[in-house]
Amino acid sequence: MTIHLSPSDPPPADTRTHGCAARSGPPGSRIVGTGRYLPERRLTNADLEKIVDTTDAWITERTGIKERRVAAPGEVTSDMAAAAGKRALERAGITAADLDMIIVGTISGDHPMPACATFVQQKLGAKNIPSFDISAACAGFLYGMSIADRFLRAGGARYILVIGVELLSRILNFEDRTTCVLFGDGAGAVVLAATDGKDGRGLLSTHIYTDGSLAESLLIPGGGSKEPVSADVVANKRNFVHMTGQDVFKAAVRNLAAASNAALEYNGMDGSQIDRVVAHQANLRILNMVGQRVDVPWDRFFINIQKYGNTSSASIPIALDELVEADALKPGEHILMCALGAGISWGSALVRW
Ligand code: ACO
Repeated sequence: MTIHLSPSDPPPADTRTHGCAARSGPPGSRIVGTGRYLPERRLTNADLEKIVDTTDAWITERTGIKERRVAAPGEVTSDMAAAAGKRALERAGITAADLDMIIVGTISGDHPMPACATFVQQKLGAKNIPSFDISAACAGFLYGMSIADRFLRAGGARYILVIGVELLSRILNFEDRTTCVLFGDGAGAVVLAATDGKDGRGLLSTHIYTDGSLAESLLIPGGGSKEPVSADVVANKRNFVHMTGQDVFKAAVRNLAAASNAALEYNGMDGSQIDRVVAHQANLRILNMVGQRVDVPWDRFFINIQKYGNTSSASIPIALDELVEADALKPGEHILMCALGAGISWGSALVRW
């Protein structure tokens, strides 16, 4: 079922069956600040060779990853999220007191409850604003942006902080070579501001989707209501990430391409009009195959997976902040974003910078 929040401006008929879409018209929303935080400690492929039966050659060839970051002992998810959020607020030229909402995309928060966003709010010093988590794994940041955009367009909110953060090293089984080599820790954030839409810059559209029939392909089996924490759950490492890699790989290529093409079609554009693709950094081969299906030249794909691995919901805002810091995004450029993760949940966003 499709929910459109702009009934006066419906999308092309053939996107109606593809999940939840929203087109931004005036008023709209625009990214006015970005930030990132990466823990200092680097875990290289050579380090992993000493931990599990793997090789730098295998990891590099199959994923493109060379190293990833790992949080320091005692460092928690909300510390990383708050650091990225603080930077985004500074870049936006606002303070926590100006925020109307904090949305955190994460599946690795400080505690099962309450939301990681509540600790982020505490650490940033924001008060009495809704602050909540989105559990959409690697798609959490795009889900957060889509929700924030809708609130901003609805009126009543001026600034929303959207954060993607994961501390995955604490929920990985470092005896399972099929998962532990893939992921890294980190946080990225953006401040989305309400705009009058007059200059045409901002979020042009978001598309978000879930296919629950694939929920078992990537999950943490234990620790929830189905398999509550017990000695057995811990002994069998059921409280860590389990994944059927090839199923996720195929779903990622298929759905990331479809969501990206839906964004293009929705905005009446083709791949040649995209200046940058800032896609979730899951696997270099996945991105390469998506590139072929979306028809955007490969040199327009931003790649930093070699440095950080798969940081799940954090990967897109980390990439955005790196591009902003390098002054690589020019006003008016079109930025296509897409992400997919456990759920399976995925989505895309198209931004006129
Ligand atoms: N080192 C060495 N060998 C390994 C490793 C490793 N780290 N991991 C698996 N292998 C072995 C397997 O055991 C298998 O050996 P076998 O043939 O003797 O049985 C062989 O390598 C091939 O395994 P495959 O699973 O077929 O390898 P594949 O090419 O599919 O790559 C990978 C595996 C990288 C996990 C891939 O499936 C993938 O990237 N999937 C997407 C997963 C993903 O990105 N998940 C993140 C969350 S969702 C998202 O972000 C999109």
